[in-house]
Amino acid sequence: MSQDQAGQIAAAVAALRRGEVIGLPTETVYGLAADAANAEAVGRIFALKGRPADHPLIVHIGEAAGLSQWTRGHSPLAEKLAAAFWPGPLTMILPRSDAVPDAVTGGQDTVGLRCPAHPLALQLLRAFGGGLAAPSANRFGRISPTSAAHVREEFGAGVPLVLDGGDCEVGIESTIIDLSSEQPRILRPGRITQAQIEAVIGPVAQDANASSPRASGTLEAHYAPSTPMLLLPRAALENEAREQAAFGKRIAVLALGALPAEASGLALPNDADAYAHGLYAAMRRLDAGGQQLLLVERPPDGAQWLAVHDRLRRAAAGAGGEDDSP
Ligand code: TXA
Ligand code: MG
Repeated sequence: MSQDQAGQIAAAVAALRRGEVIGLPTETVYGLAADAANAEAVGRIFALKGRPADHPLIVHIGEAAGLSQWTRGHSPLAEKLAAAFWPGPLTMILPRSDAVPDAVTGGQDTVGLRCPAHPLALQLLRAFGGGLAAPSANRFGRISPTSAAHVREEFGAGVPLVLDGGDCEVGIESTIIDLSSEQPRILRPGRITQAQIEAVIGPVAQDANASSPRASGTLEAHYAPSTPMLLLPRAALENEAREQAAFGKRIAVLALGALPAEASGLALPNDADAYAHGLYAAMRRLDAGGQQLLLVERPPDGAQWLAVHDRLRRAAAGAGGEDDSP
């Protein structure tokens, strides 16, 4: 660790002990972190994000030993998954212990726990000693941040201390698995896939919301750009781009592999992990470009693309809405 980083971590620990909120790099996306044991500090996260108080936060811990502190009872499945995937992009929902304030869980009887795989986050967690409650560091309903600059864009002086851990490696939020009832269930797909989890603990269910396209009206408007957005296969996208351009509409394209000739916008790699890594930064850039319509090329089907499809569907459902869309 450089002297500069050591100084940043010391400053972050001091801020957290004072009950302040900081910007936290993780391998998935940046978080907005506060002392999970301090209800008042946790309240500041909700105020900054504009998030309804009944939406629970994830508690980040520095090592799997934290499972016994923050959860009630003993879950052999959780221990197996922690051994296999932590530190890493997997959040487990478990019955909560008395150490978890109501403010963190919105009064629910369960808590989400995750040990992140980012070196700065781990150093901070170990120096701080406690758990850090942290949602993604975006205003409610908007695109998650994958760089320190994105967090500053979102909150400015509202969050003066943002630990700069560079670009997030994974780029989309963690896989969430609910282990609080009999049947383990994936609530949010992510880099760690259903097949990887099943290889460790046997069959798990996949939440309908997570696995199959829903009617757009029922989609939670999340991860949304403010520019209206259409998700189309390549050929349809090229036609749409030509037609809209003929009408004089300012459009941007988010393509797979390479941009169509004459289209302007960005292209992301035709590889699910590399695509996820670049997705939110690309959406932010295109959204900031003052275009009237965003045309996004639909990635291929297949289990490795599931998490990307989930985020794109949600983005398309929420795009162009008001900032306070649900
Ligand atoms: O990768 C991630 O998970 C990032 C980084 C910062 O760790 N965090 C993140 O947090 O995405 P957030 O709050 O933006 O998304 C967490 C999701 C929310 O949809 C929340 O409702 C759900 O997890 N969640 C948290 N605790 C829960 C619980 N006890 N039961 C059910 N869902 C829960
Ligand atoms: Mg979020």
